[in-house]
This record gives sequence, structure tokens and C-alpha cells, in this order.
Amino acid sequence: MRLLVVSILHLYICAHTVLWAQIQTVPVYKDHEIPVEERITDLLSEMTLEEKVWQLTQYTLGINNNENNIEKTVQEVPAEIGSLIYFEMGPELRNRVQHQAIENSRLGIPILFGCDVIHGFRTIYPIPLGQACSWNPELVEKACAVAAQEAKMSGVDWTFSPMIDVARDGRWGRVAEGYGEDPLTNAVFGVASVRGYQGNSLSDKNKIAACLKHYIGYGASEGGRDYVYTEVSRQTMWDTYIPPYEAGIKAGAATVMSAFNNINGIPATVNKYTLVEVLKKRWKHLGFVVSDWDAVGQLVNQGVAESRKEAARMAFTAGVEMNMRDNCYRDYLPELVKEGKISLNQIDDAVRRVLRIKFELGLFEHPYTPTVTEDKRYLLPESKLVAMKLAEESIVLLKNKKNMLPLFKQKKIALIGPVAKNKGCLLGSWSAHGKSSDVTSIYEALMLEFENKIQLMYAFGCDFEGEDVLSFTEALNIAKQADIILLCLGEKQRWSGENASRSTIALPRIQEQLALELKKVGKPIVLILSNGRPLDLSRLEPLSDAILEIWQPGINGAQALAGILSGRINPSGKLSITFPYSVGQIPIYYNRRKAARWDQGFYMDITSEPLFPFGYGLSYTEFKYGAIIPSATTVKRGEKLLIEVCVTNTGKCDGAETVHWFISDPYCSVTRPVKELKYFEKQFIRVGETKTYRFEVDLERDLGFVDETGKRFLETGEYYILVGDQQVKVELVD
Ligand code: GLC
Repeated sequence: MRLLVVSILHLYICAHTVLWAQIQTVPVYKDHEIPVEERITDLLSEMTLEEKVWQLTQYTLGINNNENNIEKTVQEVPAEIGSLIYFEMGPELRNRVQHQAIENSRLGIPILFGCDVIHGFRTIYPIPLGQACSWNPELVEKACAVAAQEAKMSGVDWTFSPMIDVARDGRWGRVAEGYGEDPLTNAVFGVASVRGYQGNSLSDKNKIAACLKHYIGYGASEGGRDYVYTEVSRQTMWDTYIPPYEAGIKAGAATVMSAFNNINGIPATVNKYTLVEVLKKRWKHLGFVVSDWDAVGQLVNQGVAESRKEAARMAFTAGVEMNMRDNCYRDYLPELVKEGKISLNQIDDAVRRVLRIKFELGLFEHPYTPTVTEDKRYLLPESKLVAMKLAEESIVLLKNKKNMLPLFKQKKIALIGPVAKNKGCLLGSWSAHGKSSDVTSIYEALMLEFENKIQLMYAFGCDFEGEDVLSFTEALNIAKQADIILLCLGEKQRWSGENASRSTIALPRIQEQLALELKKVGKPIVLILSNGRPLDLSRLEPLSDAILEIWQPGINGAQALAGILSGRINPSGKLSITFPYSVGQIPIYYNRRKAARWDQGFYMDITSEPLFPFGYGLSYTEFKYGAIIPSATTVKRGEKLLIEVCVTNTGKCDGAETVHWFISDPYCSVTRPVKELKYFEKQFIRVGETKTYRFEVDLERDLGFVDETGKRFLETGEYYILVGDQQVKVELVD
């Protein structure tokens, strides 16, 4: 008996010792009770140099569907890899590879999976250039939250979005990916996107890390060409390109992507001023910078690094923490450390930044993605509703002669053009895992909207491009039978986006020819445009009785269009980018600086005015603006200034109206734009109702300006607050 008791006691002590040993050996970095910074310090202390460099390296995983960056599928993924660009749609592959990282690597550091979720993951909503025309950042935030939910449930922790590059040249294909020509617009929608993706905490359910891109000045690409030189003065850098990034960082954006472009001779990926002085020192960003695809290795092409090794040294010491895909860091950082050209402290700071985001995402506690069936992941009814609503509010009514729209008396419609049944073009570029099969075509949407009410005839008319006019005949035939022609023209899905610059912003000649021939039939023409850039409509506009700009509106964009055509929806979109009269006017944007002379106009051969200006958009109703009422016309620094304007719906149908508040500063020690958007507000106003719009002017923020060092200043003198065609003068005194 005594022996039994002793044995049991012995067993108990052994078991207890083993258990205690186990409890004691859970490393600090794996203990979620410990503050993140302590966990990082502990983990760094365990890591070898090679393990640290792997954390700064990003491969790709899966079949790369981004035709701009062709590469062979990576076969072997090391367990120590820091990040992967994830091309698969489901979480299975991610979980398998993540399991390898957790179980087969020495320290079990989870991998960070990134993806280009630009305007939806599977539920695709309008391209960002169109989203901005909604002037509804709350709705854009909801759309990004949908994208985050679908991406997270598919194994993605991090999106390379929002793109907030101010762009003023429609020849540049990437104008589609940002929020247009204005700094404030890009700032407000960039912040809305960060909020939608990241929520209140990165570790919250269905939230993913955001990435502000492409830092910085990429939109100033010479001639609209991609990957090229950008001449951006320090002054313009601070007053035009930096504001959206400053706002995004203040909103807590986890990461930033360095751009391809060469900024005044120093490529963005090795630009210590923007990456260190501004981003890290002034804004104290604690996340990390990832290079754009191969942007480190490309420094050799740009003529600033003689070798990939030199490129690695330059980019790393300039403040780019993670190397996307070209493996320059993997291949040379260890060597550069051993040569003393990079210090271990520098490596540790970079790795700390990457680990910080991984810890904040909760990847150490939840490295795997729960697998649910696709119907619970994608295209949820409420998600499709958000996509539909955003499409409705993004569509811009550019012309409506004699109130041609909405359609109500017409009985026979001729639906014509290459866009009418094309689904891909409605998705647009960077449509992630969006599928054409998810898209309702314009033809299908009209059949649903006008079922049994209107006879809908269809003809292809012509292709997007080419010389084939054979299909004109059928189009002309149905046009002769119809009461009205809906002419659906535009761009193919990949005619905008990356590496999609065009020398002209007019549609191909064949499309204009079709319009000309249809005009001869003598029936009214409603021009419906699907495109990813501002277009030169100078030849199409005179042929059209009405024009609807639908952009690339996503899976439910056609239903949104159908609702507008039938009058079920009152269009409320207003342009986020100027539509030039011709490509010869480019760059042309509303907030240009004042010219020394103006009265004789800028050109001898064409007008100086754009065809459709920034902020332009019609409604089916009329809105009457009251006088602008300032709370004071003389103010001092630190005082508040409240400005109101009342808007009445004097028309025949309810509608939403966006009021854009601009300021102008006629005289300043640094010349300022003719006017600057400082606030906007959208409200729904019923027929006969009046709503008050209020702009609480923060004198420093809204009247002040920055100089070429980024220093903000506010000068006494006269300022003007502009709304619509009105303005009021406000005097700032000491
Ligand atoms: C591309 C794009 C960038 C994208 C990245 C990853 O070249 O410039 O916007 O996020 O590579 O696909």
C-alpha cells in the first residue's frame, strides 16, 4: 500500500513538474496578455538575422491574375516568409501555408497575406473615381467594410488600398483607381476607406490592414505615362499630393506603399525626405512601408542604383521596410549587415514595424481563417445592396436636354452599343475576384426594369474599336423603329488601371461614327458611358440629348442605371474629375493657380473651358440655393466662423444634393489655386423642402495654407467662401 501511495505521489510530482515547465516555457511573445511592444522585443531577441530578413520579404502565392506583373507561380514558400500576396479566392491554401509557418518554422511567426482589394473582393462596386462622384464617404466606408469582410473570410489580412493619388491627367490609366483631381476629395474618401477596412481595431472581426498608395506623387506622371518621372515641386508636394496621405496616416492606416515614380530625380522608393522626414519623423507613422511590385530592383532601371544589392541598401535605408517580390532584401540584406552598411538596429526597427502590424491584427492568436461555405462569404444580400446604392450615387447625369430623362412616355427603346451586353467592362480594372457572371448587364437590367412596359430592341452596333461597320445596319434598323436610342459606349475593362495609358481620351473612332450615323435617323439619343477615365466627349456631346456617366459601376451598376432611366432613382452624382474639352487641355483641373493673364484665353484654337467641370452633375429636380450667410464677415485667429446656406427642392421629385464649399485667397505670400474645396455635404431634400447646409470653418485648416516646407500659415486679409455661383467675403484681422 505504502509503495502505491509513494508511486502516485511520484507520478503527481512528475506531472506537475512537466506542466509547470510547460507553463514557464511559453515565450513572452506568444502571451497575448503581454503588451505588444514587449512581445516584439522578446521575439526580436530570439530571432536570427536571416529570420529577420525573411520578415521583410514578400513572395506571391497562387496563380497571379494581375496581368501587369506576369511571373511564374512560386513553387516553394519558406516557413519563415514574412508576407505573401495571395491570389487564391478561398482560405484553404492560406491555411495550409500558414500551418507550415506556425508548425515548421523555429519561432512560428504567422505570415501576413496581402491582396489588391481595390473596389471589392467578390462583391464589386464602382471604381474609386466613380465612388468619389457619390460625395458619400459614409457609403464608401460601408463598401470597404464589405470588401474587408469578404477578403478576411477568404484568407486576406491586408489590402493594397486605398489609392489616394491626386490625378489630373486622364491619359494615365490609374486615374480610375483614385478619387480624382482634388486633394480634399482624396483625403476624405481615403480616410473613409481606411475606416471601412480597419474598423476601430485591426483585430476586430472581418477587418484588414489598409495600405495608402502610391506614396507619393505618382499621379503627376509625365504625359500620363506609367512608371515614369514626376516633376513635383516641394510646394505642390505639400499643398496637393501630401494632404490625402497625412489624413490617411492620422486615420491610422497601418501601412503605406512606396510608388514607382521618380520624384524630381529621387525615386519614391529611395526618397528619404518623404519616407523618413515626413512619414516617420513628422507623422510618426508606426506601421511599415512596402515597396511596390519589384520597385526595389527597378531602381537599377531608373538609374539610381548600379546593382540589386545597391538598390536593396538604398531602399532599406530610405525607409522601405518590406520588399515586394523581387527578393533584393532576401538576397542582400544579410550581406549588407555583415559589411556594416546596414546596422542590426535598422533591421530591428524595420522588423519591429512589420511584427507590430501582425500582432495588432491578432495573427499570433488567430493565424488561420475559419472555412465557411462561399454563400456565407460572398455576395450577401446586404453587401449587394451597398454595391447597388454606391453605384446609384456614383452615376452622373451630364446632360438632359428638354428633360429627355427619365423615360416614361417612350414605348420602344433601341438599346445599342458594345457596352449594352458587356459585363466585364462594368467591373473595371483591379476587380479582384469579381466575376462577370455576377454582373447584370445593361440589357438584362433594362429588361427587368421595363418588363411589360416598354418594348426593348437590341443591336450590337459596333465593337469597342476597329473598322468593322457591318453591324451598323442592324443598329440603324432598330433605331428607325424606336422612340428613343440608348447608346451604350465606353472602354473595355482593362483600358484603364495600371499600365493602361492612352494618348487620347476620346473613344475609338468607330464608336463616334456609330453615334454620327444614328444621329441621322433623327431619334433622340441617350448616351450611356462606361469608362475608367474622363473622356473627350466634344464630338459625342452635340449628338446626345442626354448623357449618363456610369463609370465602371460594379456588379449592380446596370440596375442602378436602369433605376435612373426609369425615374425610380434621381441621379445625384457630381464629377470628381474635370472632363476636358480635348486632350490638348490636359492637365486641366479646377484648382489651378491663377495666370498672369486670362482675358484672351489659353488657346487660340479651342476654348479654355473644360467640357464638364469638377463638381458638375445634374438632377431630375431643381435645387434653389439661398444666400450664403456667414456668422461674421470679420474674424480673428482662433475664432469660429459658421457659414450656412439653405437649399430648397423647387422641382418635381425628391433628390439628394451635395453642396461643395470652396474658399479662395486672392492674395497670399505663396500663390494659391483660384479656389480650393474645403468641405462638402450631401443631404436628401424632398419636393418643396428646404435644408440648411453648415460649414464650420476652422480658420487655420480651411483658410490657412502650407509652404514648401509643410509649415502651415494663416495670413490676415480677405478671403472668399464660394458655393455654387455665389461668394461671400470674410476679412481676417489681427
Ligand atoms: C502593382 C501596383 C500596385 C499593386 C501591386 C501589387 O504593380 O502598382 O498598385 O498593389 O503591384 O499587385
